[in-house]
Amino acid sequence: MTNVIIRPATPDDALALNAYRRQSADEPNNMLTYSAGEYTRTVDQERERIVSASTADNQHMLVAEIDGKIVGHCVCAGRRAQGALRHTAGLGIDIHANYRGQGIGRALMQAMLAWARENPVIHRVELEVFTHNTRAIHLYLSLGFVVEGLQRQVYFKYGRFVDVYIMALLVGA
Ligand SMILES: CC(C)(COP(=O)(O)OP(=O)(O)OC[C@H]1O[C@@H](n2cnc3c(N)ncnc32)[C@H](O)[C@@H]1OP(=O)(O)O)[C@@H](O)C(=O)NCCC(=O)NCCS
Repeated sequence: MTNVIIRPATPDDALALNAYRRQSADEPNNMLTYSAGEYTRTVDQERERIVSASTADNQHMLVAEIDGKIVGHCVCAGRRAQGALRHTAGLGIDIHANYRGQGIGRALMQAMLAWARENPVIHRVELEVFTHNTRAIHLYLSLGFVVEGLQRQVYFKYGRFVDVYIMALLVGA
C-alpha cells in the first residue's frame, strides 16, 4: 500500500482508464458484469464519463495509482441526475489482478464512502455482487453494507447462471 495514490479521475486519465477497464473486462473469471470484449466504450466516451463524474453533484470517480499507473477504479453515480432517485447511487469497483489483497480496494471504498457521507445529495449507496465473490462481500460487510436481497440467475457467466446479492449502505443523516 505504500506507494498508492487515491485520487479523483481527471479527463487526462481517459486513455489509460479506458485501457484499464478493457483489460479488466477481458480478465477470465473477473467477477464483473463485463466479460471479454464487452467493454466497448471509446476513449472519448470514457472522457465524457470522467467529466460527468467530476461535474455532476451526485457522481464521483476515483482511481488508485501506483508509479503513474492506474491499478484500481471506483465509481459511484446517482441513478438519476434529477428526481426521486438522485440520492441513490450505484457503486462499482475493481482492482487490477496483480494488486488485489493489499488493502487498495478497502482504501478506495473508504475514500468513496467519505465522499458519499459528505455529499448533501447522496443518501444511499448500493451495489450488486455475485454471491460467490467472497472477498468483495467480506469487504462490503466490514464497511457496514447490508445484504438486502438475493436475485437469482441474473447473469450468465462462466457457463452458468449467477446469483447476485443486492447490498446497500445508508450514508445520509
Ligand atoms: C473485490 C476487490 C475490489 C477488493 O479489493 P482488494 O484490494 O483486493 O481488497 P482489500 O485487500 O482491500 O481487502 C480485502 C478483504 O477481503 C479479505 N479477503 C481476501 N480474500 C478473501 C476471501 N477469499 N474471502 C473472504 N475475504 C477475503 C481480506 O482479508 C480483506 O479483509 P480484511 O481487511 O478484513 O483483512 C478486488 O479484489 C477486485 O477488484 N476483485 C475483482 C473484481 C471485483 O470483484 N469487483 C467487485 C465486484 S462487486
